[in-house]
Amino acid sequence: MSAIPPFDPRPDEAGIPDQARPGPAAAAYQRDGGVGRVLVLHPFSKRDRASDRRQPDACLAEAVGLAAAIGLETVHAETVALERRHPGSLFGSGKIALLKAVIAASDIAVVVVDAPVTPVQQRNLERAWGTKVIDRTGLILEIFGARARTHEGRLQVELAHLTYQRSRLVRSWTHLERQRGGFGFLGGPGESQLEMDRRLIGERILKIKRELEGVVRTRELHRASRRKVPYPVVALVGYTNAGKSTLFNRLTAADVLAEDKLFATLDPTMRGLRLGSGRRVILSDTVGFISDLPTHLVAAFRATLEEVLEADLIVHVRDVAHSDSAAQAVDVRKVLASLGLDEARTAGILEVHNKIDLLPPEERERALNQSMRDEKTVALSAVTGEGVDRLLARFDRRLSADRQVVSLTLAADDGAGLAWLYRHGEVLSRQADDDGRLHLQVGIDDADLRYFRQQPGRRNEDKLGRVPQP
Ligand code: GTP
Repeated sequence: MSAIPPFDPRPDEAGIPDQARPGPAAAAYQRDGGVGRVLVLHPFSKRDRASDRRQPDACLAEAVGLAAAIGLETVHAETVALERRHPGSLFGSGKIALLKAVIAASDIAVVVVDAPVTPVQQRNLERAWGTKVIDRTGLILEIFGARARTHEGRLQVELAHLTYQRSRLVRSWTHLERQRGGFGFLGGPGESQLEMDRRLIGERILKIKRELEGVVRTRELHRASRRKVPYPVVALVGYTNAGKSTLFNRLTAADVLAEDKLFATLDPTMRGLRLGSGRRVILSDTVGFISDLPTHLVAAFRATLEEVLEADLIVHVRDVAHSDSAAQAVDVRKVLASLGLDEARTAGILEVHNKIDLLPPEERERALNQSMRDEKTVALSAVTGEGVDRLLARFDRRLSADRQVVSLTLAADDGAGLAWLYRHGEVLSRQADDDGRLHLQVGIDDADLRYFRQQPGRRNEDKLGRVPQP
């Protein structure tokens, strides 16, 4: 489980959106400049099925989305239930023959297998089908490569790429197996011997690591100068395809601050934004998360994710119309926790329930009602714009200079007080004791807190005093 760098759909000087520009793999697979035609397969083991919480269909849809991210056009996609994984070819011979017919009929150049594929399986499948075969890690590496925009990002991708390549060399490649030619990690123009490959890769890895050390030091300096920016930073995080970039663009589209000199010095995935109160904030479109990512890729993108830890407000964008929405949210929270996000900051995450335009009417109503009651969620559609104003108002409230987090205790029968706190503050945690009294941690503006304490019967219940703001 890890992250992919954010897709930035904003046009470059030539007016070409990044999405339209294929990654290196896509370019290699495209025939006569056309879009690469691919077959996407999601193999799953029948035995693992019961314990696997993700639906094969949803996994397949995600893989198709990932292929599209580097400009590959899926002409056929299917899930494949495996009785067992065949060591030499992953699939059984009958299935391989059936798929060969599909490949021939649709003029397919690349097969994406949404699972780990060993080098031997890859070679055998490529021979049987007469196509390139790319596995899930390879596909994600290509996306990383296509989207890495900073010097550090590119170095990290190359490092991950080489580590992946080296692990495949060590395991079972021989120099004969490398006669296939091709592109990048899928075959490489290098037809040199295994030993030489290993040595060259090892040398390059060392060089990149040294270079990265230098770049990381520079990044620290950049961060230090960014910290001097007198505006709070709001970071959008979320699962891939949740709609972060769409929301980022909608929120910042008409903003004049984008031209502000100050922001020209920032990362392209950061933009200035003025809220209703006039407060200026910096919105940061961060990395997209994805499940089942090999650990060396997680490490490669850690630095990008670490920026999230410094944000004043973390906004978790969720695709609530997705069938795996809950599982995706769990994955995202796990990664944030693994980065060292403490409990208070985790409790302060604002959840955007995006894509409500795709929900059936009654579910949409429910989502909207929930965000009226609950300060921690905002239901919206980044595409239609519904609910976006509420999100901006929420940013304003949350970033209010007067806001603080306090611990409050409410009498067991103080339902009205509780409702008031939910409406005007943000209840971060809530625990009842044996006497039924409620112990709350609440984020609230100074003025609201003063008002609350002035209400009869409440002052004495507020015993715990202030706690530091997360
Ligand atoms: P990554 O860059 O992979 O992390 O994705 P992302 O989270 O930035 O998602 P992106 O903004 O690229 O949106 C993914 C897809 O969802 C695009 O096809 C969007 O048009 C679509 N999308 C985003 N928001 C909405 C929404 O509110 N409603 C609908 N119907 N589609 C949406």
